[in-house]
Amino acid sequence: MRALRALHDAARATLDPAHYDYVAGGAGEERVLADNERAFDRYRLLPRVLTGAAARDTRVDLPGAPGAAPVVAAPTAFHRLMHEGGERATARAAAAEGAVLVTGAASTTAVADVVAAAHGTAPEAAVWFQLYAHPRAEVTTALVRRAEDAGCTALVLTVDSPVFGRRSRDLRNGFTDLPPGYAAENMRDLPGAPPGALTDIPMSPALSWPDVAAVVRGTPLPVLLKGVLHPADARLAVEHGAAGVIVSNHGGRQSDAVPAAVDCLPAVVAAVAGRVPVLMDGGVRRGSDIAVALALGAAAVGVGRPVMWGLAAEGEAGVRAVLAGLREEYDHTLALCGGRRNTDLTRDMAVREDGTW
Ligand code: FNR
Ligand code: LAC
Repeated sequence: MRALRALHDAARATLDPAHYDYVAGGAGEERVLADNERAFDRYRLLPRVLTGAAARDTRVDLPGAPGAAPVVAAPTAFHRLMHEGGERATARAAAAEGAVLVTGAASTTAVADVVAAAHGTAPEAAVWFQLYAHPRAEVTTALVRRAEDAGCTALVLTVDSPVFGRRSRDLRNGFTDLPPGYAAENMRDLPGAPPGALTDIPMSPALSWPDVAAVVRGTPLPVLLKGVLHPADARLAVEHGAAGVIVSNHGGRQSDAVPAAVDCLPAVVAAVAGRVPVLMDGGVRRGSDIAVALALGAAAVGVGRPVMWGLAAEGEAGVRAVLAGLREEYDHTLALCGGRRNTDLTRDMAVREDGTW
């Protein structure tokens, strides 16, 4: 997306370099970070002809979000480091564009205030809450109650972070704590969780499938599992009650030795076999990337960094520009593929660069 490049450049010019690096960077040598985008370049779309319509319907029914845009704002931490409007600005923008906002446990605005901002713009807006399961179950339960009370319509449990990724740029910049005046607000006054340091975000290598089952049992909300790459784990997710699976390598911020996210999508889609929706994120930068992901079986895609660049550059208007721009590009691509709706993009239409499957 051409405008996205401009928003990125404007964001880079305005941000503290360490904060820019925190968002832009990835783990290790940033191989996975680069490959997430490169993997989309290896795909082409094989269009159908004479099957289109004057107007297309690109809405999708997601857990707790009927009729949503096919582009979701992926959970990202610390929006107030990007722009004074912070998560409230992101929430208003996503609500105005009909896009689900996945607001993070590690947000610099309390979840109740994020949802209130979204509902102030569009009362029917869907906000999902992303969390990490805490080794102490009562902490997880308290976080889940906060999300439920705030009016979130689904939970996203991130499972790709047993330990924090080693981000070379953050290590070089010494960026490990939030600056004074900023805190991970959802972690405030939880049992044993002082707000502030990045490393306070609860991650535990000892979590296992029974912990997932406990989260699912402990809430009436649908629970999606984020960070699944192996098809066997996708099957286990469904068996443990997940309402959706998000194929993601955390934007290349955790392991620097995993495949590109979109390359893991087909096997996960096959394993889930239509029982729950499969979403993906990582490297989505243009409308045709969305079309490739949907052709490969994704119900919707998430975008992380693009939303942050829009927010940093222009606040609420910048996030709207990113979400609307991607949706319009996708609609245009769908038209060029002879599609009327998302499900018209089928597996046979996503081919390799040389046109072979
Ligand atoms: C993230 N991501 C993330 N994921 C999550 O589950 N919880 C979190 O707190 C965060 N925080 C976070 C911060 C920043 C600055 C970034 C860039 C990313 C990962 C995010 O949800 C998503 O998986 C990736 O960002 C998708 O890749 P792209 O779109 O950034 O390429
Ligand atoms: C990150 C953590 C917060 O990716 O998930 O920075």
